[in-house]
Amino acid sequence: MTKLLVANWKMNKNAKECFDFFEEFKLKFSGKRSAWIAPQAIHLNLVINEGKKCNVMAGVQNCSEFLSGAYTGEISPRNVKELNGHFVILGHSERRQYFQETSKHLNAKVKTALKEDLKVIYCVGETLPERESNQTLSIVGDQIQQGLNDMSEATADNLIVAYEPVWAIGTGKTATPAQAQEVHAFIRAELKKKFPAFGEKIQLLYGGSVKPDNVEELLGQKDIDGGLVGGASLKASDFLALCGDK
Ligand code: PGA
Repeated sequence: MTKLLVANWKMNKNAKECFDFFEEFKLKFSGKRSAWIAPQAIHLNLVINEGKKCNVMAGVQNCSEFLSGAYTGEISPRNVKELNGHFVILGHSERRQYFQETSKHLNAKVKTALKEDLKVIYCVGETLPERESNQTLSIVGDQIQQGLNDMSEATADNLIVAYEPVWAIGTGKTATPAQAQEVHAFIRAELKKKFPAFGEKIQLLYGGSVKPDNVEELLGQKDIDGGLVGGASLKASDFLALCGDK
């Protein structure tokens, strides 16, 4: 399976900085690994157009469970698709922590986005106190069960799951490859129970301080199919290195 690197630019980069990134990125990107970028939604069109020139897919960092109507400030998954957006990240820990998104609420968003034929990157992960009290697998298991509840197997081929331990996001602390692999293997087993025909094929991304100097070891793990990257995706040279194009 081709490894997938997804850039989560969060609320960074103005329009000029988005263009500048592509000016540099497109010179060296070979496509040997897939590269997707999620800018702020206001730059989606820009990133779609620049991405087209170098085979990079664009998506958003969140979307609504509704398709249209009186939902001030929300992003319609249908309109993301209409613009040729490729994917949506749902359930990032910053959305869970700062915007009170629960797995139950996320379940509605996941199902709507999949129905609109977007790829969904559903994020799960434990906090430090949860890891320290040995609750990692039960927390991640609950996030999987609730967030992916009542989904038809047919839609699962557009699903990607990202394991992002909250304590590793933006902190410079990375899960060791063995810690990450342990949780990925658990997620794989849960997905195979839920979706017998697709569980094996669902791509599993690791996120949390992925950097050029730890990416190869992480991607070398059996159940790690790619990375979801914040900080190290902002500089074209770093993201190129993650994509295997130094
Ligand atoms: P980080 O962020 O790479 O800066 O740790 C990852 C993420 O939030 O998806």
